[in-house]
Amino acid sequence: MALNALLLIAGLGSMTMASPVGFSYADPVNLFKRISSGCSTTGPASCHNTTHVSDLCCFESPGGLLLQTQFWDTNPSTGPSDSWTIHGLWPDNCDGTFGQDCDPSRAYTDIADLLSSQGASDTLSFMKEFWVDINGQNEQFWEHEWSKHGTCYSTLETSCLPSGSPRGAEAVAFFNTVVKLFKSLPTYQFLADAGITPSTSKTFSLSTLTDALKSATGVTPALDCSSGAINQISWYFNLKGSLLDGEFVPIDAPKKGSCASSGLKYPPKSGSSSSGPTSTSGGNPPPPTGAPGSLPAKAHLSASSTGGLLTAGTWSVQTPATYTLSGSTSSFTMSTSKGSCGVSSGQLICGSGVSASTFSAQTSGSNLLLAFGGSTAFTSDGTPSGSTQETVFTGSGHSVDFTISIVST
Ligand SMILES: *[C@@H]1O[C@H](CO)[C@@H](O)[C@H](O)[C@H]1NC(C)=O
Repeated sequence: MALNALLLIAGLGSMTMASPVGFSYADPVNLFKRISSGCSTTGPASCHNTTHVSDLCCFESPGGLLLQTQFWDTNPSTGPSDSWTIHGLWPDNCDGTFGQDCDPSRAYTDIADLLSSQGASDTLSFMKEFWVDINGQNEQFWEHEWSKHGTCYSTLETSCLPSGSPRGAEAVAFFNTVVKLFKSLPTYQFLADAGITPSTSKTFSLSTLTDALKSATGVTPALDCSSGAINQISWYFNLKGSLLDGEFVPIDAPKKGSCASSGLKYPPKSGSSSSGPTSTSGGNPPPPTGAPGSLPAKAHLSASSTGGLLTAGTWSVQTPATYTLSGSTSSFTMSTSKGSCGVSSGQLICGSGVSASTFSAQTSGSNLLLAFGGSTAFTSDGTPSGSTQETVFTGSGHSVDFTISIVST
């Protein structure tokens, strides 16, 4: 819990630049099987050192410009119709050039086995759904991403691992890290929150897309297109500490992707039912998802199991804060005495300088549930008690799932 609180404070402190993704291995279920680097994250981020750094187990170099790349494959479609899929996590050099296939002796050919034998079955099952090859050759795709890019991380050299680590432990750590980072970058959700959903007919300007993504995360990613349709995104980071357990510092893409400035298509994946030709054009709020009903102007946000939300958007069993809601159940914004409430990198935060996100409300029995991106699922790394506060994330990527009721005050 203390770790969560620290990470949240770190996130708020650097909000005006780019907030670090709330990246931690605090999930108690998984803690035992994650390797700890023992590296500090208080030094300079990769590519930001002003003098020579000698311990490259704790400082990523030369590949200190990290790209988390994601696909939007529609021809043929891969993965869920409401999610982008993982391409990889690449260590570019600070000038944008890159090395590849850095250590053929570690080009493992049993990635799935390594993951399942080293306690990462949860990561493996996530990868089967969200890190998928367009030709169905998932194992080969994972091997390629590991050997071409993964073996180039200085902080993943086997000499950096705790002694006695099994063969391939650094590859297991790599896949765990990529999955964890990808879960914090729900590109589909970020766009949907701005009313941008796949469509067979609409087109979008590049700035409509990048503005929406920037308002969700604080940084501008690079978008690549194929035949005028967006099909890849690159989220850029520098890294503090080791790739095993370091802190990802989001940064603006240093260069534009290949998309033109306007007329961009965002086609639905086949089999998509929730979105399609009827989707709204960019910039408009999403279509109503909640049942009609009135939205209170002042409310407490009460969690389904215990407690409620405080003024900064954190979850606690202390006296809940009063939230001011404006709009209708289908589309509203929220604020507290701290400031506007927004979702940034999948994390709910209220404060000054936070750009407001659009929420909706859905009726469930006698409750009015808070929804983000059409989903009433919220998640956290733990259940608060006493004076602890938990960071609230959208979706269900963390260990404790709950819903949030809007209770009129
Ligand atoms: C940063 O550290 C790396 C690794 O020691 C080194 O190669 C690079 O020259 C350093 N950059 C500066 C500006 O000193």
